[in-house]
Formats: sequence, C-alpha cells, structure tokens
Amino acid sequence: MRKGLRICLVFFILFVKAQAQDYDKSEGPVINYEESKVPDYNLPKVLETLDGDIIRNKASWEKKRRPEILKLFEDNVYGQLPEAYDGINFKVKKKVPDAMYGKATLKEVEISVWKESDSVNIRLTLFIPNNVERPIPVFLLINNRGEYNTDPTRFIRSQFWPAEMIIDNGYAVAAFHVSDAAPDNIENYQDGVLQLYPEQLGANNGMKAIGSWAWAASRVMDYFEQNKEIDSEKASLVGHSRGGKASLWAGAQDQRFALIFSNCSGNTGAALSRRMFGETVKRINISFPHWFADSYAKYNDNENALPVDQHMLISLIAPRPVYITSASEDLWADPKGSYLSLLHAEKVYDLYGGNSALPRNPPELDSPIIASNLGYHNREGIHNLTAYDWKNFIKFANYHFDR
Ligand code: GCU
Repeated sequence: MRKGLRICLVFFILFVKAQAQDYDKSEGPVINYEESKVPDYNLPKVLETLDGDIIRNKASWEKKRRPEILKLFEDNVYGQLPEAYDGINFKVKKKVPDAMYGKATLKEVEISVWKESDSVNIRLTLFIPNNVERPIPVFLLINNRGEYNTDPTRFIRSQFWPAEMIIDNGYAVAAFHVSDAAPDNIENYQDGVLQLYPEQLGANNGMKAIGSWAWAASRVMDYFEQNKEIDSEKASLVGHSRGGKASLWAGAQDQRFALIFSNCSGNTGAALSRRMFGETVKRINISFPHWFADSYAKYNDNENALPVDQHMLISLIAPRPVYITSASEDLWADPKGSYLSLLHAEKVYDLYGGNSALPRNPPELDSPIIASNLGYHNREGIHNLTAYDWKNFIKFANYHFDR
C-alpha cells in the first residue's frame, strides 16, 4: 500500500474509533456508568413556584405548587390522566375459598369500565387471608412481566409476587397485568384504556402505556373501596422497573394509595434524569416510544430544559410514605440517582413534619431504611423484584400501619 494511502487509512480508523466513543452502535449517546462523568446540574427547585414564590408550608404546597408540578409532569412527561368514564362494574368471575391449602380466599375479579360505546376490562387476581379480622390491608402489584408470575392457581410461585409470604404476614395480595390496560409495545399499546380516550392519542401531552397502567391501578382502587374485606385506606401499590415508573405516577396522581413502592424503576422512575447516568431520556424515548407523552421527546439530550426532575415526582406522593429500591448491579437504573431523588424530595415531607432523616449518602448494600416516610434499600444483585425486596416492603408497611 502506498504510504499516503496508509496514513489516510490510519487516520480514518482513528476517526471512526473516536466517533464510537461518543455514540453506541444504534442511536443515541453512549451510556455513562462513571460517577466522575456525571455532569454538573441544577435541579428545579421543588419549593419554588414557576412565578418565583417560595413555598414555606403545606397549605401553599397543596394549593399552588403541588398542582403546578402535577401539571408539568402531565404536559412534559407522562401525559394527562383522564378520569371521566360512564360506568364501572366489578364481577367476581371465580372464587376459591380454600386457596393456598386453605390459607386464603382467591377472587378473580373482572373490572369493566366503559365510556360511550367503548369498554376496557382489567382482570384482577386477589388473595385474601382466611381467619383474620377484616377489613385487611392489601398489596397491589402492577405486573409488567409474564402473567405466570401472578399465577392464581399457585402452580407457579414466583419471587416476583410471593403471594404466600404476603398472606402469611396478614395482608391481602393482588395483581393485574399491564397488557389489560395497555399492551407493552408500539404496535398496539392503544388497545386498552386508550380506547376510552381516543383524544389522548393525537395530543402532544396525551398519555400512553405508562399512563394507562397508572389509570388501571386507580380502577383497582375503585374496586378496593367498595370491597368490605379490604382496608382501602391501607392499600400499597408496588411496581418493578417500568411498573415502578407507573407506581410512582399512579401514587402521585391518586392520593388514595397509602404507600407506594417503586422497585428498580430507573429513568423516568425514581432516578434523577439530569445525572444522565445509565439510561437517559433520549435512550428511553427511542427504545419505548409508546410509554410517555410525545412532548417528552423534546428533552432528548436536553435534560436541563425539563421543568421537573424525578425528585419532584416523589414529592407529589408526600406526605404518604414511599419506598424506593435499587440493585447493586443495576447501574442502568442509576441506584445513586434514585437515592438522591428521595433525598431531594425530603423537604416536601418536612413541610408535613415528616419523620425521615435520610443520610446524605446512600446506605450500604442490603441496609434498608424502614423507620422513615422515605424508605430505601440497595439490594446486592441484579435488576429484579425478589423476596428480599418484598420482605422489606412488608416491614415498611408493618412500620407505617403499626402492625
Ligand atoms: C428496560 C428499560 C427500563 C425499564 C426496564 C424494565 O431496561 O430501558 O427503563 O425499567 O426495561 O422494565 O425492566
């Protein structure tokens, strides 16, 4: 090869390598996993209104700032959460009084909601412990994994929803599958709740799948409220990962949920977007264009322009207790950024005289913070919802419900 050509080739290879450092194989920037490369950022002030008023008490938080933040999340991130429907009906399709070897009663309930000529059915699996005083507190899981994880026959028992363990601890346990509310793919996420709200589909701030899952959680709450066996004032909502994004959003919107659990929820869940550690706003919008409002895409590679960050989502849950988890190997979901979100939400809990005193730095691995309105653990291991996570959820609920 001629010398000139060789030099050109070397330069060309170096150029391609340099590009590869900034961009991964597909679209979008390389994912950062190094703390030293987290950019400097300023979080939007949770206690300062858009017109510059400083919030000093819970009355002005509730009257002014809270509704403002809720609307910012609707308009810029998750889309609106429509509430109106023409009717709702609850039908027990199957009842097994001696499920789990007699420990519990199984109810398979169909929740039908209609508006004009359209309807949606959410199927709920519910176990209520037998021989206990009622009404009884309940854990509801938004199931975003295989339906077998919440198998009503209990032929399959998964750590993802350890129903027996929850029953043994004196709680009712329930689950619905996200696909009933919005199938989790770009092709047909509209085939569920969105059929009731076609106007959402055209709107820049229209809800999509995550909003639909949150909406469905609220309809399950409608069912709990009229079921005398369930203490609907002590209902815990649990979600993992994408389900954990939905549990936070549902908890922010629907103040009937007493406790919110968000497991490994990562980007647009508990993690601060501005850290750009692990998954980013651009990455999530490219990979999952059917999750968030169209308007969210304008923050791709533009996190600092967001009028919110995720600590403000957690703040919307105040004063109700919230529990966030991470897993040590789940850097994609930014464990540190999830903890910092919780920490930055604390000032809103303080307006209510909150009992939390979170340490500035995340706790050690497997050292749960339970006796606090803001609970947290970072479990050793991978991205998953496990029995360890649930054990801590139960401890947190026991603490807050004095059980
Ligand atoms: C993907 C996605 C995450 C999501 C996760 C899950 O990894 O990028 O945002 O939380 O799936 O739901 O398991």
